Amino acid sequence: MALTEKYGELIQKTFAKYPDKRSAVMPMLHLAQQEYGWVSPEGIQEVAEICEMDPTQVKSIAGFYTMYSESPKGKYWLQVCTDLACALGGADKFYEDLKAELGVEDGGTTEDGLFTVEHVMCLAACDKAPMLQCNFHFEEKLDMEKMRKRLAEWRAEAAKAK
Ligand code: FES
Repeated sequence: MALTEKYGELIQKTFAKYPDKRSAVMPMLHLAQQEYGWVSPEGIQEVAEICEMDPTQVKSIAGFYTMYSESPKGKYWLQVCTDLACALGGADKFYEDLKAELGVEDGGTTEDGLFTVEHVMCLAACDKAPMLQCNFHFEEKLDMEKMRKRLAEWRAEAAKAK
């Protein structure tokens, strides 16, 4: 199992924080997503074995929470809040402009595999619109000028990591 081999020590440290292995299923799903870029069927199977659970149970947990992706994503997963408060703050136009900038539709991934863009409901940063989360880090009070700068930084970061 790749996760156990690569993250054995981290997994054991995480288990130590919980009353039993099953209780650690969410951090283990995070680990699988971090490793594979999404919660793949193989990831589900591994997490089930690590947490000594039925894979169906693990899959149902992964499916319930929006922070787990059940399909492959780009290296940078951009989730733009277009819920009401953000919409009033310009999120709809920002989202349209961002999709146009990257040449993708809602939920699409750029051809280079770097960016997946989708809209989501409230992320609890309603006074910071337009905002998005990129791989669970917030980017707030955005406009396209700021966004282009961040996209360039992420592209440079990805090129450096190759
Ligand atoms: S409505 Fe967008 S963060 Fe709350």
